Amino acid sequence: MNAETAPIVFRPMRPDDYPAMIGLMRRAPGVSVREADTPEGLGRFLARNPGLGFVAERDGRLVGCLMAGHDGRRGHLHHLTVDAGCRRRGLALALVERCLAALEREGIHKTHIDVYRDNAPGNGFWQAAGWTRRDDTHRFSIVRGGGENA
Ligand SMILES: CC(C)(COP(=O)(O)OP(=O)(O)OC[C@H]1O[C@@H](n2cnc3c(N)ncnc32)[C@H](O)[C@@H]1OP(=O)(O)O)[C@@H](O)C(=O)NCCC(=O)NCCS
Repeated sequence: MNAETAPIVFRPMRPDDYPAMIGLMRRAPGVSVREADTPEGLGRFLARNPGLGFVAERDGRLVGCLMAGHDGRRGHLHHLTVDAGCRRRGLALALVERCLAALEREGIHKTHIDVYRDNAPGNGFWQAAGWTRRDDTHRFSIVRGGGENA
């Protein structure tokens, strides 16, 4: 079996996925890698949200990732990315399903994702996945104690 036909394997995200994840995300327009996206940052996020994020692997190579967490009230997803060679095969849908099921097991029934307005694939995906685009809210943000790209 060659790498092209090898099955896709999904598993919970681990801190040591960082190098492969950051490479995948940096290659994807629409995913904004920030100062928060350090190895320590991923480790901290996973320690606070164990078992909620997932990756997809093919032939031992990381080809998809989705970070998921919650604050005790709402779920939040970050950095959904699928390798360009593996798109339109349902990988993103499968990652989202795993994350939402894990959040649901923790009693979290409403989850948010930020998508850049000019990210056509991203917007197309979330719409197709059945998510409701919010036009009734604005997101306000502040940076305090970090760099401009915090
Ligand atoms: C967006 C992205 C994660 C989708 O991954 P994927 O594995 O190809 O998505 P799926 O195969 O699960 O797609 C499910 C459905 O979503 C919709 N969809 C997926 N990609 C789409 C695109 N580029 N344009 C419009 N609709 C799209 C389709 O309806 C698709 O079903 P179909 O293939 O039967 O038509 C992937 O294109 C990607 O990594 N893009 C770069 C990073 C990015 O923008 N991430 C999103 C940040 S919010």
